Amino acid sequence: MEYLQSAEKAAREAGKYILSNLGKVKQISFKSLQSNLVTEVDKKSEEIIIEALQKDFPDFDILAEESGASSTKNSEYMWVIDPLDGTTNFAHGLPIFSVSIGLIKGNEVIAGVVYDPTRDQMFTAEKGKGAFLNGKKLTVSKTKDIKKALLVTGFPYNVEENPDHCFERFVIMTMNSRAVRRLGSATLDFAYVAAGIFDGFWEVKLNPWDIAAGLLLVKEAGGKITNFKGEESDIFNPQILASNGHIHDVMIELLEKAEQMEFSL
Ligand code: IPD
Ligand code: CA
Ligand code: CA
Repeated sequence: MEYLQSAEKAAREAGKYILSNLGKVKQISFKSLQSNLVTEVDKKSEEIIIEALQKDFPDFDILAEESGASSTKNSEYMWVIDPLDGTTNFAHGLPIFSVSIGLIKGNEVIAGVVYDPTRDQMFTAEKGKGAFLNGKKLTVSKTKDIKKALLVTGFPYNVEENPDHCFERFVIMTMNSRAVRRLGSATLDFAYVAAGIFDGFWEVKLNPWDIAAGLLLVKEAGGKITNFKGEESDIFNPQILASNGHIHDVMIELLEKAEQMEFSL
């Protein structure tokens, strides 16, 4: 079976399970912080995905959010899985969440899917073959003027103890663009940049499973991904700037400017 087909199948299966539990969460636990939730649905979704992928590719390594590096087979291929991206939304019954599965070879993402079960939207990408939404080719937006741009960002769970200029960046971007959104699902943020809905997305502290599939979607849709300095970024670099390419340099300037600002909260 092909990588993408297998990832799609696993994401669809997990998405169906997640959706059937929307509004029915019984038990919420916390990771290190009270703001970092995990539900039984995150864990079960991960089990569904891992089981499905391992059936098709038993020798591939796996890096999954809830169970970590669950297999160390020293394969050059590794599935990178976020079984439920947008857990806080899901736990509150807000239908903005997704399943994300990326496949890396060496350090490079070669295939990825982001599946939104609430809208039955399957975003897919394969290296060199383009990005698609339910089979329809995607391209990033053509917006060149940041004043006309719709942007999105997210905040890390520990933003309270380590604000890292998140709020200053949010303000400066809001003042200079059409609007800034904060959806609560990083993998959908990437997917919407790839689809030309958002013109740019930045976040300071993402994990490999938040990035893998989304990074490839944006690249394959013709967008640009770097860190805040404009340097090439991979899935192990937590700082991400994704854009349509046209507004990338202006966004970098604004992100830098925000570092000179200091709000007292
Ligand atoms: C979170 C979401 C959120 C982002 C956080 C992520 P989770 O993932 O993607 O949008 O701001 O940084 O950790 O915990 O819901 O899988
Ligand atoms: Ca996530
Ligand atoms: Ca998650």
